[in-house]
Amino acid sequence: MSTLACRRLVFRRPFLSAPPSPSSLSVLGQSILTDDYTNVTPAILSKLPIRLWEKHGHPLCTLRSLVESHFSDFASLSAPSPLVTPAQNFDVLSFPPDHPGRARSDSYYLNRSLMLRTHASTHQVESFAKEHDRWLLTADVYRRDEIDASHYPVFHQMEGGRVFGTDTTSLKILEEENRALEEVLERSPIHIVDAPHYSPTNPVQAGHSADAAALVSRSLKLSLNGLMLKLFGGASNKDEPLQVRWIEAEFPFTSPSFEVEVFFRGKWLEILGSGVVLQSTLDRANVPGKIGWAFGLGLERIAMILFSIPDIRLFWTSDERFHSQFSPNAISTFVPYSKYPAASRDISFWLGAGTHDNDVYDVVRDVVGDVAEDVVVLDRFTHPKTGRRSATFRITYRSMERSLVGSEVSAMQGRVRDTLIGRLGVEMR
Ligand code: PHE
Repeated sequence: MSTLACRRLVFRRPFLSAPPSPSSLSVLGQSILTDDYTNVTPAILSKLPIRLWEKHGHPLCTLRSLVESHFSDFASLSAPSPLVTPAQNFDVLSFPPDHPGRARSDSYYLNRSLMLRTHASTHQVESFAKEHDRWLLTADVYRRDEIDASHYPVFHQMEGGRVFGTDTTSLKILEEENRALEEVLERSPIHIVDAPHYSPTNPVQAGHSADAAALVSRSLKLSLNGLMLKLFGGASNKDEPLQVRWIEAEFPFTSPSFEVEVFFRGKWLEILGSGVVLQSTLDRANVPGKIGWAFGLGLERIAMILFSIPDIRLFWTSDERFHSQFSPNAISTFVPYSKYPAASRDISFWLGAGTHDNDVYDVVRDVVGDVAEDVVVLDRFTHPKTGRRSATFRITYRSMERSLVGSEVSAMQGRVRDTLIGRLGVEMR
């Protein structure tokens, strides 16, 4: 299972069976032809116009403003459409052709040539190309995933990027800026465990000087340490400073690369991914003679912690008992309103040869929406002779708005069953 902040594009079995689909889809006012690659569902498409990060007073909007206020001299770019080509999402960022994130089991495709972006980094090239030397961009991103309190197939990321000249004068100015930021942090209640600016396992790119790469890594770390202090440092002081640690990481589009973790309320939390931008990205953006950094952070993950929001589905609720608890631009602690009772139902079936668990989750989300609180696999079985696979899933239903009656839950389970049979061709046990 991956985390929300920077869920890595992990390996999973490819999705082989083609779901039945209409021949065209209407998406954000565009008519799009489907093909054998289409796996996007109506439940997902219904989220595209919502744009939660622009809703004044919504915790995601407040968090976005907070991040923007830290990077006050950065251009705030409005999110382009989430419909992108696989080339934009992967190729221009140097993802290898066989990268597992491209699999239909992990990402949503409208057809072979159009997908929903899986991360905000998709827009690095065009953002740098707009001749902004520093920019921030907030975007809805889409990944196929399991169903529980911290996973939702739509979430939000903020991407930030900055470039510097590589001439001696520009690097000298950067060095001075770094020193000034460092002095501020030294006086602040923050304890930083650093990672080397580069190392043999986290190398400087060919074509970058080690000195320039180190200055840029340092600039990245200083800027983000300041952000961590702004987001999480409220209760820290000299005796109990905020603890931040930098860890070497790996992304296809940065080198060296880093992750940031923060110790908050007794736990280390993974907050963001970052690194020195691949020079090929800047070449594609046509900004010669520059070197730069980029980071991407997951807004839900951070907002759930800062506002004490216990379930990721709440971000999407229209319940006033949620929204009335928040005011624009203020971090406040969410007080959960009474939970309605949950009901669980199990379902066992033989899976088709190419059926992936994520196909089952998408059927559940499509049929019952956010009433599905949690889906877990209780049991798996492979028939020793035929090799057929079967599984038992436990679906937990709970409305966030009202009590469900048993007959309703059974009816929902029936619809899930019928759709699994109809769409995925599974066979009940
Ligand atoms: N796009 C990465 C993710 O979604 C995060 C990232 C952004 C990493 C920018 C490096 C630079 O996990």
